[in-house]
Amino acid sequence: LTTEVTRPVNGYYLLGVIGNPIAHSKSPAMHNAALLEAGVQGAYVPLHVEPENLQAAVMGMKAMNFRGFNVTIPHKVDILSYMDELDESARFIGAVNTVVIEHDRLIGYNTDGVGYVRSLKEEAVSTIEGMHVVVIGAGGAARGIVYALLLEQPQSLTILNRTAEKAEELAKDFKVLGNVNGYSIDSAEQVLAQADIVINTTSVGMHPHTDQTPVSIHHIPEGIVVSDLIYNPLETKLLTDSKHKNCIIHGGLGMFVYQGAIAFEHWLHVQAPVEAMRRAVLASFT
Ligand code: ATR
Repeated sequence: LTTEVTRPVNGYYLLGVIGNPIAHSKSPAMHNAALLEAGVQGAYVPLHVEPENLQAAVMGMKAMNFRGFNVTIPHKVDILSYMDELDESARFIGAVNTVVIEHDRLIGYNTDGVGYVRSLKEEAVSTIEGMHVVVIGAGGAARGIVYALLLEQPQSLTILNRTAEKAEELAKDFKVLGNVNGYSIDSAEQVLAQADIVINTTSVGMHPHTDQTPVSIHHIPEGIVVSDLIYNPLETKLLTDSKHKNCIIHGGLGMFVYQGAIAFEHWLHVQAPVEAMRRAVLASFT
């Protein structure tokens, strides 16, 4: 990271997030707090964009000299076709969550998985290298996480999913990066017995269905690391039950904060004020 902020023409950084729905996004609160804390002049705005207006919206951002923006549901995949350049993360994952506008060129990144791994390493594990990692779920969120985890060279990465074919397919897509396999969730008992780190990427346990867990807690070994991407609630039943089995637990808030922190650093080339960002997200819950 360079310490100097590259000044835009008007000395003011325009940033935002495009999605639909977007009203309840916590990104504006988090990034505006980050701009303030870092002493950077600018603003981050929520932008409601319908799918049929995606191209016009992206061209508009360029025309209005936005420095960059985040992309959320439902545009993460469709936006690929408007990028001039893709970072390796976005290319592998097949989705973009962060765009940098560099001299009229649109560069697409995916900071979700890398943000997740940075949060896991800051908050729960000293290393992923050599570990047996189990990912539950094989959807869009799992894709980003599997990519970033494999860069850390685990001993094995096993994907478990309700629909076995999706787990197998996801594993096949990432085979070039490491030892990754996909199975049906029915294999949970055998697979989890070997696990050092277990990560839930499904929505099972999310508000309002907070009494559910994606796998039986009986299959989680004592004392391992258990992580959940869900951050509403901050501690899912999977995490609470795992805590009672002496596991180290890790919730989803950190992933949200760090995907934002890495995006902030791509846009502004200054270190993201992670703690101020975390505080802002927590404050926006109340
Ligand atoms: P996301 O982008 O959040 O990953 P997604 O792409 O729709 O969303 O993927 C959802 C994931 O959660 C899938 O792995 C899905 O399993 P299937 O592939 O079998 O559909 C999983 N999932 C969602 N609800 C589930 C439930 N009630 N039980 C088990 N798995 C569930």
